[in-house]
This record gives sequence, structure tokens and C-alpha cells, in this order.
Amino acid sequence: MQAKELPIGVFDSGAGGVSVLAQAKICLPHEKFIYYGDSANAPYGTKSEDEIRDLSLACGDFLFRQGVKMIVIACNTATSITVQAMREKYNIPIISIEPAVKPAVEKYPDGKIAVLATPATLHQKRYFHLLSKLNAAKQVVNIECGSLAELVERGNLSDPHIKAYLYEKLLPYRGQNFGGVVVGCTHYSFVSSQIRDVARKICGGSCEIFDGMYGTARHIAEVLAEEALLSGSPEEGDVTFFSSGEMGHVDVFKRFFQNFLK
Ligand code: DGL
Repeated sequence: MQAKELPIGVFDSGAGGVSVLAQAKICLPHEKFIYYGDSANAPYGTKSEDEIRDLSLACGDFLFRQGVKMIVIACNTATSITVQAMREKYNIPIISIEPAVKPAVEKYPDGKIAVLATPATLHQKRYFHLLSKLNAAKQVVNIECGSLAELVERGNLSDPHIKAYLYEKLLPYRGQNFGGVVVGCTHYSFVSSQIRDVARKICGGSCEIFDGMYGTARHIAEVLAEEALLSGSPEEGDVTFFSSGEMGHVDVFKRFFQNFLK
């Protein structure tokens, strides 16, 4: 089979990366995708760097063995720690995601921006570099949401614990008037309207949501085009889901994926 007809591999600690997958599928309907969620080891965001690196490389190995033409790290936490090691290990394009701080500060250069992400993402050198490159450290408020990915991972997006958790996390920022709110973890994309509503109510401001999945999906398409790896198939591509955990997780991935495409 020609390399361009091989599937694209996408992984995350669990269900979060399904948001990136769905966005990529919208942009690239003829591509085939393999999604791998490391549900047995989720969440990553509260683990050590070494643990996150080892787990992410195991996800990369799984996808590489499936014969993918590209690996997408659909996890902000894994990106910051693993992207370099993956680029050295595999001879295929590696695409990563990072919190969408850039579009947020471009749109609100004089406003305050809230960044919600895992503790691991917010403590990475890569994230500090991003803020300093954008000269954004002063206007950005970092909000660690260690348990939010786990709540989303349970699969019930209307679980009242999610809203209660958001209230608890945002209450210290009452009246801060955020121009933008960056969802810096792919799990949070599934609850971004709840995040926006709670942030508007407590913090005030327009609280416009900025999500890295859009830029990542565009980047996947650009790199495939540059590397002459775009599928030439006229047919709609399929999506295959795998989880390192129980089968129930695959059902959650499929449900989240279908809901996202609606
Ligand atoms: N979805 C991941 C991210 O984008 C990780 C969440 C977690 O496992 O803690 O950061």
C-alpha cells in the first residue's frame, strides 16, 4: 500500500483526544484514523515527567506498530514532555498540540486571559517558553484543573460534579474580567461551553473560548500536503478506536466522537 493511503494515528491519555480526532476528521474526511486512548493509565496530568514520557512513548509504539503514516499527540500534557523524543524515535511526521494562548492574546492584547490546563502542562518549560515568546506572562492567569480530565473521562458530560468543580476552580478569580479562556487540555473541549458559562458568571468579561484543536487539525492537513501524504481515496475514511483499558472506554470514545460531529 502507498504510504499516503495508510491511517493517521492519534492518541491521548483517554477520551480527550477524541475532540482533536473529530476536528481532524471534519477537515480530512477521506483519511483513515486509528485512535488510541490510554484509559488504563489516565489521567496523565498529575503524574511525574518520567511516567508521562514512558506512557506516551508506549502509545507511540502502539500506533507505530499499526503502521500509521503520522502520529498526532492529541494531549497537551504529553506534548510538552514527549514531542522531541517521539520525533527522534519515529521516522514519520509527529504533530502535537499546545494551549491556544497565541490566538487568545492576539485577539485580547490588553485583556486578561485564563488558561485552564493540567498541573503537568502548566509546570513545563515548554509552556513558560510559550508565554515568554508571546510576552504574555503578565496577562495570563494559570488555573490548574487536576481533576477535570478525570471527571470528563467518566463519560457523563452532564455530571453535576463537573459544574461544581468549575465553580470551585474559578471562584478565586471572581470579577477578573477574562477576555479569553484557553482550554489547555483536550478533555476540556467536551465541556468548553460549561467552562465559558461558569467563567462568565463568576469572573465576568467575554470569556471567549480558545481551543488548540482547530489549529492542530489544520496543521495535520498542512503537513500531510507538504509531505505528499494526503490520501487520494474518493471514499470516506473510517475510524478505528482502541483503549488500553476496558471495552467500555471505547464506547465512550465512539459516543463522544459522534456527538462532536453533530
Ligand atoms: N487530555 C490531556 C491533555 O490535553 C491529558 C489529561 C490528563 O490525562 O490529565 O492535557
